[in-house]
Amino acid sequence: MEPVPVNIPCLQGNEKEYLIECIETGWISSEGPFVREFEEKMATRFNRRQAVAVSSGTAALDCALTSLQLEKGDEVIIPSLTIISCATAVLNAGATPVPVDVDPMTWNMTTAEVRKNINARTKAILAVHTYGLPVEMNPILQLAEEYGLRVIEDAAEAIGLDCHNKPCGSFGDLSIFSFYPNKHITTGEGGMVLTDNDDLAERNRSLRNLCFQSKKRFYHEEIGWNYRMTNLQAALGLAQLESLEKALQRKRGIGNLYQEELKDCPGIQLPVPQTDFSENLYWVFGIVLENEDEKETLRITRELAAAKIGTRPFFWPMHEQPVFHKMGLFNNLHLPISEKLARTGFYLPSGLGTSNEQIKHVAQTLKSILQ
Ligand SMILES: Cc1ncc(COP(=O)(O)O)c(C=O)c1O
Repeated sequence: MEPVPVNIPCLQGNEKEYLIECIETGWISSEGPFVREFEEKMATRFNRRQAVAVSSGTAALDCALTSLQLEKGDEVIIPSLTIISCATAVLNAGATPVPVDVDPMTWNMTTAEVRKNINARTKAILAVHTYGLPVEMNPILQLAEEYGLRVIEDAAEAIGLDCHNKPCGSFGDLSIFSFYPNKHITTGEGGMVLTDNDDLAERNRSLRNLCFQSKKRFYHEEIGWNYRMTNLQAALGLAQLESLEKALQRKRGIGNLYQEELKDCPGIQLPVPQTDFSENLYWVFGIVLENEDEKETLRITRELAAAKIGTRPFFWPMHEQPVFHKMGLFNNLHLPISEKLARTGFYLPSGLGTSNEQIKHVAQTLKSILQ
Protein backbone atom coordinates (compact mmCIF):
# COMPACT_ATOMS: atom_id res chain seq x y z
CA MET A 1 0.00 0.00 0.00
CA GLU A 2 1.20 3.52 -0.88
CA PRO A 3 1.75 5.95 2.03
CA VAL A 4 -1.49 7.38 3.46
CA PRO A 5 -0.87 11.04 4.34
CA VAL A 6 -2.90 12.63 7.11
CA ASN A 7 -4.52 14.95 4.56
CA ILE A 8 -5.08 14.84 0.80
CA PRO A 9 -6.98 17.90 -0.51
CA CYS A 10 -9.49 17.62 -3.35
CA LEU A 11 -9.25 20.16 -6.20
CA GLN A 12 -11.49 18.66 -8.85
CA GLY A 13 -13.95 21.43 -9.72
CA ASN A 14 -13.41 24.77 -11.46
CA GLU A 15 -10.18 25.61 -9.59
CA LYS A 16 -7.94 25.40 -12.67
CA GLU A 17 -10.32 27.39 -14.88
CA TYR A 18 -10.62 30.25 -12.38
CA LEU A 19 -6.86 30.32 -11.74
CA ILE A 20 -6.18 30.53 -15.48
CA GLU A 21 -8.63 33.44 -15.62
CA CYS A 22 -6.56 35.26 -12.95
CA ILE A 23 -3.39 34.75 -14.97
CA GLU A 24 -4.96 35.71 -18.29
CA THR A 25 -6.56 38.88 -16.90
CA GLY A 26 -3.56 39.79 -14.77
CA TRP A 27 -5.73 40.04 -11.63
CA ILE A 28 -3.59 38.29 -9.06
CA SER A 29 -3.55 40.68 -6.09
CA SER A 30 -6.28 41.33 -3.52
CA GLU A 31 -7.78 43.95 -5.85
CA GLY A 32 -9.11 41.25 -8.19
CA PRO A 33 -12.85 40.58 -8.63
CA PHE A 34 -12.89 37.02 -7.24
CA VAL A 35 -12.22 38.33 -3.72
CA ARG A 36 -15.49 40.28 -3.54
CA GLU A 37 -17.41 37.48 -5.26
CA PHE A 38 -16.03 34.89 -2.83
CA GLU A 39 -16.96 37.12 0.14
CA GLU A 40 -20.50 37.67 -1.13
CA LYS A 41 -21.13 34.01 -1.86
CA MET A 42 -19.73 32.94 1.52
CA ALA A 43 -21.88 35.51 3.36
CA THR A 44 -24.96 34.17 1.55
CA ARG A 45 -24.12 30.49 2.15
CA PHE A 46 -23.50 31.08 5.86
CA ASN A 47 -26.42 33.48 6.53
CA ARG A 48 -24.30 36.51 7.34
CA ARG A 49 -24.59 40.13 6.15
CA GLN A 50 -20.83 40.55 5.71
CA ALA A 51 -17.74 38.48 4.98
CA VAL A 52 -14.14 39.74 5.00
CA ALA A 53 -11.57 37.51 3.26
CA VAL A 54 -8.10 37.41 4.82
CA SER A 55 -4.82 35.54 4.41
CA SER A 56 -5.34 32.78 7.05
CA GLY A 57 -7.57 31.62 9.89
CA THR A 58 -4.99 33.04 12.29
CA ALA A 59 -5.27 36.42 10.55
CA ALA A 60 -9.07 36.19 10.80
CA LEU A 61 -8.80 35.61 14.57
CA ASP A 62 -6.39 38.55 14.94
CA CYS A 63 -8.72 40.87 13.03
CA ALA A 64 -11.89 39.62 14.76
CA LEU A 65 -10.51 39.95 18.29
CA THR A 66 -8.80 43.30 17.64
CA SER A 67 -11.96 44.70 16.04
CA LEU A 68 -13.72 44.36 19.41
CA GLN A 69 -11.47 47.11 20.86
CA LEU A 70 -10.69 45.25 24.06
CA GLU A 71 -8.53 46.87 26.73
CA LYS A 72 -5.63 45.75 28.90
CA GLY A 73 -6.98 43.60 31.73
CA ASP A 74 -10.03 42.46 29.74
CA GLU A 75 -10.43 38.68 29.67
CA VAL A 76 -11.55 36.41 26.87
CA ILE A 77 -12.56 32.82 27.67
CA ILE A 78 -11.15 30.25 25.26
CA PRO A 79 -10.98 26.44 25.31
CA SER A 80 -7.56 25.22 26.44
CA LEU A 81 -7.53 22.38 23.91
CA THR A 82 -7.18 24.42 20.75
CA ILE A 83 -4.72 25.96 18.31
CA ILE A 84 -2.38 28.65 19.63
CA SER A 85 -3.87 31.19 17.19
CA CYS A 86 -6.87 31.53 19.55
CA ALA A 87 -4.70 32.56 22.49
CA THR A 88 -2.35 34.77 20.46
CA ALA A 89 -5.29 36.61 18.88
CA VAL A 90 -6.52 37.56 22.36
CA LEU A 91 -3.01 38.69 23.33
CA ASN A 92 -2.57 40.61 20.05
CA ALA A 93 -5.85 42.39 20.85
CA GLY A 94 -4.31 43.54 24.14
CA ALA A 95 -6.45 41.31 26.37
CA THR A 96 -5.83 38.16 28.43
CA PRO A 97 -6.91 34.68 27.35
CA VAL A 98 -8.56 32.52 30.02
CA PRO A 99 -8.35 28.83 29.03
CA VAL A 100 -11.10 26.52 30.25
CA ASP A 101 -11.40 22.75 30.24
CA VAL A 102 -13.36 20.76 27.68
CA ASP A 103 -15.85 17.90 27.68
CA PRO A 104 -14.26 14.42 27.68
CA MET A 105 -16.62 13.08 24.99
CA THR A 106 -17.16 16.00 22.58
CA TRP A 107 -13.71 17.59 23.21
CA ASN A 108 -15.42 21.01 23.16
CA MET A 109 -15.76 23.79 25.75
CA THR A 110 -18.88 23.51 27.90
CA THR A 111 -21.31 26.14 29.15
CA ALA A 112 -20.65 25.07 32.76
CA GLU A 113 -16.88 25.64 32.44
CA VAL A 114 -17.42 28.98 30.73
CA ARG A 115 -19.86 30.12 33.44
CA LYS A 116 -17.39 29.13 36.18
CA ASN A 117 -14.73 31.41 34.66
CA ILE A 118 -16.82 34.58 34.17
CA ASN A 119 -15.87 37.51 36.38
CA ALA A 120 -15.98 41.32 36.24
CA ARG A 121 -13.06 41.42 33.77
CA THR A 122 -14.61 38.97 31.28
CA LYS A 123 -15.50 40.69 28.01
CA ALA A 124 -15.87 37.90 25.46
CA ILE A 125 -16.14 34.18 24.82
CA LEU A 126 -14.24 32.57 21.94
CA ALA A 127 -16.20 29.40 21.17
CA VAL A 128 -14.16 26.96 19.06
CA HIS A 129 -15.79 24.01 17.30
CA THR A 130 -13.31 21.15 17.61
CA TYR A 131 -12.59 18.38 15.09
CA GLY A 132 -16.01 18.51 13.37
CA LEU A 133 -18.47 18.61 16.28
CA PRO A 134 -19.81 22.00 17.42
CA VAL A 135 -19.89 23.69 20.80
CA GLU A 136 -23.50 23.88 22.03
CA MET A 137 -23.97 27.50 20.96
CA ASN A 138 -27.42 28.45 22.26
CA PRO A 139 -26.55 28.26 25.98
CA ILE A 140 -23.25 30.07 25.30
CA LEU A 141 -25.18 32.87 23.57
CA GLN A 142 -27.66 33.02 26.48
CA LEU A 143 -24.79 33.24 28.96
CA ALA A 144 -23.22 36.04 26.90
CA GLU A 145 -26.49 37.93 26.93
CA GLU A 146 -26.87 37.46 30.68
CA TYR A 147 -23.40 38.93 31.35
CA GLY A 148 -23.17 41.38 28.42
CA LEU A 149 -20.30 39.53 26.70
CA ARG A 150 -19.24 39.39 23.06
CA VAL A 151 -19.15 36.01 21.32
CA ILE A 152 -16.64 35.09 18.63
CA GLU A 153 -17.21 31.76 16.91
CA ASP A 154 -14.15 29.92 15.57
CA ALA A 155 -15.66 27.71 12.88
CA ALA A 156 -12.31 26.95 11.18
CA GLU A 157 -12.90 23.22 11.55
CA ALA A 158 -16.64 23.38 11.03
CA ILE A 159 -17.27 24.77 7.54
CA GLY A 160 -20.64 23.35 6.47
CA LEU A 161 -21.51 21.92 9.88
CA ASP A 162 -24.90 22.80 11.40
CA CYS A 163 -25.58 23.50 15.07
CA HIS A 164 -29.21 23.86 16.28
CA ASN A 165 -30.14 23.64 12.55
CA LYS A 166 -28.15 26.79 11.74
CA PRO A 167 -24.79 26.95 9.96
CA CYS A 168 -21.63 27.21 12.04
CA GLY A 169 -20.19 30.55 11.00
CA SER A 170 -23.50 32.32 11.68
CA PHE A 171 -23.38 32.52 15.50
CA GLY A 172 -22.37 35.40 17.76
CA ASP A 173 -20.91 38.82 16.97
CA LEU A 174 -18.18 37.50 14.69
CA SER A 175 -17.27 34.12 13.20
CA ILE A 176 -14.07 33.00 11.53
CA PHE A 177 -13.10 30.31 9.03
CA SER A 178 -9.71 28.93 7.93
CA PHE A 179 -9.07 27.74 4.38
CA TYR A 180 -5.90 25.75 5.03
CA PRO A 181 -5.74 22.63 2.77
CA ASN A 182 -7.18 20.32 5.43
CA LYS A 183 -10.38 22.43 5.65
CA HIS A 184 -13.65 21.73 3.79
CA ILE A 185 -12.95 24.75 1.59
CA THR A 186 -9.30 25.47 0.85
CA THR A 187 -7.51 28.40 -0.73
CA GLY A 188 -4.04 27.03 0.07
CA GLU A 189 -3.74 29.55 2.88
CA GLY A 190 -6.66 31.81 3.70
CA GLY A 191 -9.37 32.73 6.13
CA MET A 192 -12.50 34.80 6.61
CA VAL A 193 -14.31 36.89 9.20
CA LEU A 194 -18.12 36.86 9.04
CA THR A 195 -20.50 39.16 10.87
CA ASP A 196 -23.96 40.75 10.73
CA ASN A 197 -22.60 44.00 12.17
CA ASP A 198 -21.61 46.50 9.45
CA ASP A 199 -19.34 48.51 11.78
CA LEU A 200 -17.43 45.41 12.84
CA ALA A 201 -17.11 44.36 9.20
CA GLU A 202 -15.69 47.79 8.32
CA ARG A 203 -13.21 47.59 11.19
CA ASN A 204 -12.11 44.12 10.04
CA ARG A 205 -11.66 45.39 6.47
CA SER A 206 -9.49 48.19 7.78
CA LEU A 207 -7.42 45.91 10.06
CA ARG A 208 -6.66 43.49 7.21
CA ASN A 209 -5.45 46.39 5.09
CA LEU A 210 -2.91 48.11 7.39
CA CYS A 211 -5.63 50.53 8.56
CA PHE A 212 -5.09 52.66 5.44
CA GLN A 213 -7.60 55.50 5.37
CA SER A 214 -9.76 56.24 2.34
CA LYS A 215 -9.21 60.03 2.35
CA LYS A 216 -5.59 60.19 3.51
CA ARG A 217 -4.16 56.82 2.54
CA PHE A 218 -0.73 56.73 4.18
CA TYR A 219 -1.89 58.41 7.39
CA HIS A 220 -2.71 55.98 10.20
CA GLU A 221 -4.93 56.35 13.28
CA GLU A 222 -4.58 52.64 14.14
CA ILE A 223 -2.21 49.73 13.60
CA GLY A 224 -3.36 46.94 11.27
CA TRP A 225 -1.75 44.19 9.22
CA ASN A 226 -1.40 43.22 5.59
CA TYR A 227 -3.71 40.22 5.90
CA ARG A 228 -5.31 40.61 2.46
CA MET A 229 -6.45 37.57 0.47
CA THR A 230 -5.22 37.46 -3.14
CA ASN A 231 -7.44 37.01 -6.20
CA LEU A 232 -5.63 33.69 -6.82
CA GLN A 233 -6.70 32.40 -3.39
CA ALA A 234 -10.26 33.66 -3.85
CA ALA A 235 -10.42 31.92 -7.25
CA LEU A 236 -9.66 28.64 -5.51
CA GLY A 237 -12.15 29.45 -2.76
CA LEU A 238 -14.98 30.12 -5.19
CA ALA A 239 -14.44 26.83 -6.98
CA GLN A 240 -14.22 25.03 -3.64
CA LEU A 241 -17.45 26.63 -2.43
CA GLU A 242 -19.21 25.27 -5.53
CA SER A 243 -18.14 21.75 -4.47
CA LEU A 244 -18.86 22.19 -0.76
CA GLU A 245 -21.99 20.03 -0.49
CA LYS A 246 -20.20 17.15 -2.21
CA ALA A 247 -17.20 17.60 0.09
CA LEU A 248 -19.42 17.48 3.19
CA GLN A 249 -21.07 14.29 2.01
CA ARG A 250 -17.65 12.73 1.48
CA LYS A 251 -16.44 13.90 4.91
CA ARG A 252 -19.40 12.19 6.59
CA GLY A 253 -18.77 9.11 4.45
CA ILE A 254 -15.16 8.93 5.66
CA GLY A 255 -16.25 9.34 9.30
CA ASN A 256 -18.98 6.73 9.05
CA LEU A 257 -16.62 4.24 7.40
CA TYR A 258 -14.06 4.67 10.21
CA GLN A 259 -16.87 4.27 12.79
CA GLU A 260 -17.94 1.01 11.14
CA GLU A 261 -14.40 -0.35 10.77
CA LEU A 262 -13.34 0.54 14.33
CA LYS A 263 -16.57 -0.07 16.24
CA ASP A 264 -15.39 -3.29 17.91
CA CYS A 265 -11.83 -2.18 18.48
CA PRO A 266 -11.02 -2.40 22.20
CA GLY A 267 -9.15 0.27 24.15
CA ILE A 268 -10.13 3.33 22.13
CA GLN A 269 -12.74 6.07 22.35
CA LEU A 270 -14.20 7.10 18.99
CA PRO A 271 -15.72 10.49 18.09
CA VAL A 272 -19.34 11.07 19.18
CA PRO A 273 -21.47 10.58 16.02
CA GLN A 274 -24.12 13.09 17.11
CA THR A 275 -25.44 15.23 19.94
CA ASP A 276 -29.01 16.49 20.35
CA PHE A 277 -28.04 19.74 18.60
CA SER A 278 -25.73 18.49 15.83
CA GLU A 279 -24.29 15.65 13.78
CA ASN A 280 -20.55 15.03 13.58
CA LEU A 281 -18.98 16.14 10.30
CA TYR A 282 -15.65 14.43 11.14
CA TRP A 283 -13.39 17.28 10.07
CA VAL A 284 -10.75 14.86 11.31
CA PHE A 285 -11.29 11.40 12.73
CA GLY A 286 -9.94 11.58 16.29
CA ILE A 287 -9.10 8.60 18.48
CA VAL A 288 -8.50 8.70 22.24
CA LEU A 289 -6.69 5.80 23.90
CA GLU A 290 -8.22 4.48 27.10
CA ASN A 291 -4.71 3.62 28.30
CA GLU A 292 -3.60 6.92 29.84
CA ASP A 293 0.12 6.35 29.32
CA GLU A 294 1.50 8.97 26.92
CA LYS A 295 4.24 6.50 25.88
CA GLU A 296 1.56 4.15 24.55
CA THR A 297 0.20 6.93 22.30
CA LEU A 298 3.70 7.57 20.98
CA ARG A 299 4.27 3.86 20.38
CA ILE A 300 1.05 3.51 18.38
CA THR A 301 1.56 6.62 16.26
CA ARG A 302 5.18 5.59 15.59
CA GLU A 303 4.02 2.14 14.46
CA LEU A 304 1.44 3.77 12.19
CA ALA A 305 4.21 6.01 10.80
CA ALA A 306 6.34 2.91 10.18
CA ALA A 307 3.39 1.54 8.18
CA LYS A 308 3.46 4.87 6.22
CA ILE A 309 0.22 6.10 7.80
CA GLY A 310 0.18 9.76 8.80
CA THR A 311 -1.37 10.91 12.08
CA ARG A 312 -1.40 14.13 14.09
CA PRO A 313 -1.53 14.43 17.87
CA PHE A 314 -4.42 16.36 19.44
CA PHE A 315 -3.73 19.99 20.34
CA TRP A 316 -1.43 20.63 23.29
CA PRO A 317 -3.42 22.68 25.83
CA MET A 318 -2.88 26.42 25.97
CA HIS A 319 -2.38 26.36 29.76
CA GLU A 320 0.55 23.95 29.31
CA GLN A 321 2.45 25.97 26.69
CA PRO A 322 6.01 26.89 27.78
CA VAL A 323 5.81 30.15 25.83
CA PHE A 324 2.86 31.32 27.96
CA HIS A 325 4.48 30.12 31.19
CA LYS A 326 7.50 32.28 30.31
CA MET A 327 5.09 35.22 29.98
CA GLY A 328 3.77 34.49 33.48
CA LEU A 329 0.48 33.08 32.21
CA PHE A 330 -1.39 29.95 33.45
CA ASN A 331 1.48 28.74 35.66
CA ASN A 332 -0.58 26.95 38.28
CA LEU A 333 -3.57 26.06 36.15
CA HIS A 334 -4.64 22.42 35.83
CA LEU A 335 -7.35 21.33 33.43
CA PRO A 336 -7.36 17.55 33.69
CA ILE A 337 -9.51 16.64 30.70
CA SER A 338 -7.54 18.76 28.22
CA GLU A 339 -4.31 17.40 29.71
CA LYS A 340 -5.47 13.80 29.29
CA LEU A 341 -6.80 14.32 25.74
CA ALA A 342 -3.52 15.94 24.67
CA ARG A 343 -1.58 12.91 25.87
CA THR A 344 -3.86 10.18 24.56
CA GLY A 345 -5.54 11.66 21.48
CA PHE A 346 -4.49 11.67 17.84
CA TYR A 347 -6.24 11.70 14.52
CA LEU A 348 -6.16 9.47 11.47
CA PRO A 349 -5.93 10.35 7.75
CA SER A 350 -9.27 11.95 6.88
CA GLY A 351 -8.65 14.38 4.02
CA LEU A 352 -11.20 14.67 1.22
CA GLY A 353 -8.91 12.88 -1.22
CA THR A 354 -8.53 9.80 1.02
CA SER A 355 -10.08 6.70 -0.60
CA ASN A 356 -12.27 4.06 1.10
CA GLU A 357 -9.55 1.52 0.43
CA GLN A 358 -7.03 3.70 2.29
CA ILE A 359 -9.42 4.17 5.22
CA LYS A 360 -10.00 0.42 5.54
CA HIS A 361 -6.24 -0.14 5.40
CA VAL A 362 -5.65 2.48 8.15
CA ALA A 363 -8.36 0.93 10.37
CA GLN A 364 -7.01 -2.61 9.88
CA THR A 365 -3.44 -1.49 10.62
CA LEU A 366 -4.54 0.36 13.76
CA LYS A 367 -6.50 -2.67 14.95
CA SER A 368 -3.55 -4.99 14.48
CA ILE A 369 -1.23 -2.57 16.37
CA LEU A 370 -3.72 -2.31 19.23
CA GLN A 371 -4.33 -6.04 19.59
C1 LIG B 1 -9.82 25.93 15.35
C2 LIG B 1 -8.81 26.63 14.52
N1 LIG B 1 -8.78 27.97 14.53
C3 LIG B 1 -7.89 28.65 13.79
C4 LIG B 1 -6.99 28.01 12.99
C5 LIG B 1 -5.95 28.80 12.24
O1 LIG B 1 -6.12 28.71 10.87
P1 LIG B 1 -4.87 28.91 9.86
O2 LIG B 1 -4.07 27.67 9.89
O3 LIG B 1 -5.55 29.13 8.55
O4 LIG B 1 -4.12 30.11 10.30
C6 LIG B 1 -7.00 26.62 12.92
C7 LIG B 1 -6.04 25.90 12.04
O5 LIG B 1 -6.17 24.82 11.64
C8 LIG B 1 -7.92 25.90 13.71
O6 LIG B 1 -7.95 24.56 13.71
